[in-house]
Formats: sequence, C-alpha cells, structure tokens
Amino acid sequence: MLPCSILAGCGGYLPERVVSNDELARTVDTSDSWIQERTGIRQRHFAARHETSAFMGAAAARAALADAGATPDDVDAIILATSTPDQAFPATALRVQADLGVKRGFGFDLSAACTGFIYGLSVGDALIKARQATGVLVIGSEVYSRILNWQDRGTCVLFGDGAGAVFLRAGADDGPANRRQGILSTHIHAQGTLGDILYVDGAVGQPDKPGHLVMNGREVFRHAVTRLAEAVDEALAANGLARSDVDWLVPHQANRRIIDAMGRKLELPAERVVVTVDRHANTSAASVPLALAEACRDGRIRKGQLVLLEALGGGLTWGSALVRM
Ligand code: COA
Repeated sequence: MLPCSILAGCGGYLPERVVSNDELARTVDTSDSWIQERTGIRQRHFAARHETSAFMGAAAARAALADAGATPDDVDAIILATSTPDQAFPATALRVQADLGVKRGFGFDLSAACTGFIYGLSVGDALIKARQATGVLVIGSEVYSRILNWQDRGTCVLFGDGAGAVFLRAGADDGPANRRQGILSTHIHAQGTLGDILYVDGAVGQPDKPGHLVMNGREVFRHAVTRLAEAVDEALAANGLARSDVDWLVPHQANRRIIDAMGRKLELPAERVVVTVDRHANTSAASVPLALAEACRDGRIRKGQLVLLEALGGGLTWGSALVRM
C-alpha cells in the first residue's frame, strides 16, 4: 500500500514594504482606478534588499513547520518553486535547507512560473508515494519586483513579492478511507509552444542578463479561463467528486476577473473562494500557498474540508490539486 501525503502545515511571508496603487502611480503612468477595475489589485508587497527568495522561503517554511508541529529534523526533501532564485546555483532550496538547519535529505528548485507550487505539490506527493521522502517542504518564493519592466505599465502593476510553504508528511494508507485524506490527486500540464505569450527575456545563461517580464495579457487571459476550467474538471473527475463537494477554491491570484470566473464555474459562493490578489497582487509561485496559509490561519479552512487548488503561468504551464485538509 502507498503512503499518502498529509498537508500537515502551511505558512507564509510577506515583505514589510507595502506599495499602494496610488504610490505606483507616482512613477508609472497608471491609476488606482484602472488597476482595481481590470485586476482587483489594491496594493502589493515589495522586497527590501535582504528579502530574497531564500530569505522569504525560509521564513515561510519555518511558519509551515511550526503550524505542523514539526521541526527541521522531520524534513528530508525541500522543493522550492521560483522564477527568481537567489543564484543560478546552489539551488535556493539548499540555501533554505542550510538556513533551517535541515541536516539530511535533498532539495532542488523547480521552474514552472506561476504554476510552480502546484508542480511542487505534485512532485512532493510523488516522492512520498515512491517512499523517497517522508517529510517534504514545498515552497513558492518570488521577488518579481526585481524582474519587472517599469517602462511597461501593462505588466509592472500586476505583481508583488512573497513566499508561501506547506509541509507534507507521509501518512499510512491503510485502505480506501485513508486514501481520501491528504493530497487526493494533482494534475499538471504544459504547452511549450505558448512560451512567447508570457516570459522573461533573459537569464544568467543569456548574454543580456538578467531580463524582464514580458506578457501578452489578452492571450494569457484567454488561455487562463479555458485551461483552468479544464484542470478543475479533471481534478473532480479523477476523484469521482462533484462541484458541490468542494469546500474551498484556492486559486492562483493573478486577476480578480479570472478568479471570479473560476468561482462561477464551480458554482461556489464568493465567500468560498480565497482571495488575496487585492492585497498581494500576483506573487507567482507564492500566490497559492500564501492564500492557503492565510485562510488556514484565520480559521476559514478547517480540518477535513476539501480544497481545490489551481494555477496557470508562463510556459505555458497550468494545473490543479485536490487536498483533503
Ligand atoms: N494603467 C493604465 N492604463 C493601462 C495600463 C495601466 N497599468 N496598462 C495598460 N493600459 C492601457 C493600455 O495602454 C490600453 O490603452 P489604449 O486602449 O489607449 O491603447 C488599455 O489600457 C487597454 O490595454 P490592454 O492591455 O488591452 O488591457 P486589458 O483589458 O487586456 O487588461 C490585463 C490588461 C493585463 C489586466 C489583462 O489582459 C489581464 O488580466 N490578463 C491576464 C494577465 C494575467 O493573469 N497574467 C498572469 C498570469 S500568471
């Protein structure tokens, strides 16, 4: 029998500095009303120099371990999803390993843009089921403020910095009842031919480093609505569940209009959809675990409830996960 992956704890970290739309509008040709109307974003957090992906990832991981009642000794794998690593190598995951004082196991970074956390959950779950790990930290940590093009008002107003993390613990699978707890299934997809609708035009391997984010917003929007709807249906069908079985939708926080469309598709009342985009903006791989951590911490999401996670990002990548808390 296979072990299952219990989502034992979650945590988040946001940089201290909060930047409102009005503050952005002092240096960017934009307005609070344009940003709010098109995206639902009111503010975002921007990292200070010391708030790197490793620093924020470690802080979120510490919070997740504390929430799970676990210690660094319980961790034997660290998966860190990021598009903004501290260095090309060592992996930011290993900077986190050192910072936390984790003394065994392994870790690596995962690049799947805004879908990185869902990919990380999928890989973490597979490692546990393959008995290669028993305690996995899955972290999303991003400092998009460092890769934004401040001359492009169509993108620079959309993103923020932050980190979120979960701790997955191997649980016994003693039969069908236990198979219905923890991560029920994950569904990850990619279409490389759509790589040019959302990308960063540089990296350390490029002559013109470090690069800025480039996006065709309309195309991304179009694909997001279709692909996310498919991913959500796929997750429910794989588990023989109906829309009405879902207690909470924790979507990627890119745009309020996309989030609302997904909520309507699932016929979930708005209060069953976790929304942080208004305060965090799009924190890419950190957005889903940050939203999850917030709703668990404030008591909205409770043990035993069914949570549907979904995300889409550059690649194009997209995916979903169903978790029994
Ligand atoms: N402030 C004010 N005006 C802005 C602006 C800003 N920050 N950004 C763009 N505009 C202007 C444009 O210049 C354009 O003006 P024009 O009509 O005079 O040429 C107008 O607003 C419309 O621009 P457009 O880019 O067509 O807007 P849109 O309705 O497509 O909305 C997004 C733009 C980005 C909000 C929308 O496309 C979107 O949400 N896309 C999905 C993005 C996403 O989710 N990305 C992350 C996925 S992980």
